[in-house]
Amino acid sequence: MLRPLSLLNAFFFACFALAFEWARVSGATLTGTRRVIVHALQTRIDNIGTVTIPDVIATICTTTIPGATTALTTVIERSTANPLDTLKSLLLYYVLYTYGIKVYRHVRARGIRRCVFENVKAAAKYILLLFLALPPGRSKVQSELSEVRRDIEKKLVPDGAGVERHLELPPQGLSLERILKEMERMDQEMGSNNSSQDEHRAKGVDWRDGKISGAVYHGGLELTRVIVAAFERYALTNPLHPDVFPAIRKMEAEIVSICLRLFHNPGGAGTMTSGGTESIVMAVKTYRDWARTVRGITEPEMVVPLTAHAAFDKGAAYMGVKVHTIPVDPITRKVDMKGVRRAINPNTIMLVGSAVNFPDGNQDDIVALGQLASRHDIGLHVDCCLGSFVLPFLETSGLADGETDAEGKVRYKLEPFDFRVKGVTSISCDTHKYGFAPKGSSVIMYHDASLRRYQYYVNPNWTGGVYASPSLSGSRPGSLIAGTWAALHYIGSDGYLASCKSIVTCARQIANAITASIPSLYVLGSPPSSVVAFASRDKDVDVYEVGDAMAKRGWHLNAITEPRGVHIACTKLTLAVVDKFVEDLKACVEQARLAPEGKGTMVALYGLGSSSPVGPTLVGEVATIFLDTLYQA
Ligand SMILES: Cc1ncc(COP(=O)(O)O)c(C=O)c1O
Repeated sequence: MLRPLSLLNAFFFACFALAFEWARVSGATLTGTRRVIVHALQTRIDNIGTVTIPDVIATICTTTIPGATTALTTVIERSTANPLDTLKSLLLYYVLYTYGIKVYRHVRARGIRRCVFENVKAAAKYILLLFLALPPGRSKVQSELSEVRRDIEKKLVPDGAGVERHLELPPQGLSLERILKEMERMDQEMGSNNSSQDEHRAKGVDWRDGKISGAVYHGGLELTRVIVAAFERYALTNPLHPDVFPAIRKMEAEIVSICLRLFHNPGGAGTMTSGGTESIVMAVKTYRDWARTVRGITEPEMVVPLTAHAAFDKGAAYMGVKVHTIPVDPITRKVDMKGVRRAINPNTIMLVGSAVNFPDGNQDDIVALGQLASRHDIGLHVDCCLGSFVLPFLETSGLADGETDAEGKVRYKLEPFDFRVKGVTSISCDTHKYGFAPKGSSVIMYHDASLRRYQYYVNPNWTGGVYASPSLSGSRPGSLIAGTWAALHYIGSDGYLASCKSIVTCARQIANAITASIPSLYVLGSPPSSVVAFASRDKDVDVYEVGDAMAKRGWHLNAITEPRGVHIACTKLTLAVVDKFVEDLKACVEQARLAPEGKGTMVALYGLGSSSPVGPTLVGEVATIFLDTLYQA
């Protein structure tokens, strides 16, 4: 909690302590200052105009400066006469000073209005939770949560006479045929199908229908075969042992190198991770350890746009970093740079920008963030997990300049986002999204190898031998590295260029259709890539009702908040159903206007989240129940 003082801090602290001590021991000075205030208060309103500012300053100086000199002498005499008392006072001042600074920085980053609002909300939540903990409230909440639990179980856990549960090891091992048969049965139990093979199409939810936002980044059946061949060849490999599996080590290094070149930093460094979240958590650890070693920062803070992925909050929670969340501009959806500037303080270790963000697919002003990061000599992480293999190809695709609409406004323009921007020190890029690599594969890149070192974990004293690993995991599946390497090489530059063109064109088709033909909705910002989010501008149309109506037509879209909205992340699978999407969306808007149901998941869950100060706590409880249910065999 308490950290050693830097020189500047020590100076401010000394002034602070002296001022306090002076106020404490010097009645004369206080009397002097008080006299000025009382005099000012006693001055009648009609006399105020005759009292000039120089008058007031002169009065303060003549009364306080001699008082200050006397008081300082008294402070020094008293301190030397009773050193223990002085020490105690100093400790108290130190605590007051450090907390005072923290409060000041917190208020500065948020602004007074937001601080008041947050505190009132927190107090209201506390009081409501106290009420809900009392017997009548508690039993009502418990019974509603039990109902939610039953609903979630019904959706996730197969039930009924035909369901076989495999809760123990079979006494004898099963044959491959039998295992595949069991898998097929499990696939069918919930009316869905997870098989990667086309011949096993499901009757119920099937991701191949293209009605799911993001989630499955399918590169085609041929690519799946290539990945499976790589898996088979390297199924048992582990990059933790590069001497045993040298090809896997080489493939990982080459994947990192390919990404570094795509993001214009061939001299940089990086590692693979298990996904976007791990890449981001690793970046937070890197900056935390860098700041502690190089800057002596023991209470690190980071500045993150409201629209940044939750992985940053997760990383901050894991790594003990305080987060300042900065609002975004309601029109451009870019982070408010004034807010970012205000939130930076001597404890700041990193800034964050998205290219593009998850909620609405827009990008932050990376150039402006880079300038700030350079000026303060701190990290700037660009989250390109979702932009991944689309953004680097936009320039050559000819789509980077966006489109000019009827009013002459340029939309969907891509702005600089990679290592060519001064100040960008790390980028996360998910190979398992638009890179079409198997799930469990992402790359975290750094400006240079010296920064990457802070990501490593090295323990030379472990009784099991020297332990060193580049990222969160110890052992890692070499098969995923091989699968990723195979995907990148199978698709190649021309393949990614083609997928970038088709996916971005599809997203723009959706965005243009919403703007041109669904007046009740509007597109958030000016998304340059594959994600389009829309909100309602019509008070009779609740966008969550629209999302729920779309769900009834088989669409799996994402609800977003601030503002209430819905998004779709287009993939190759969306291309075939883009017209159907627009047609269904138009119909669902009318349906939501004429016959709102108020019962769908989006309305219920996100309505609950904003219903009262305890809404988010209850939604958190529902999410926890959901997680518990995942492990119900
Ligand atoms: C912008 C962004 N960052 C990070 C992530 C986290 O990626 P993952 O789900 O692979 O952990 C996502 C996931 O959708 C994302 O959209």
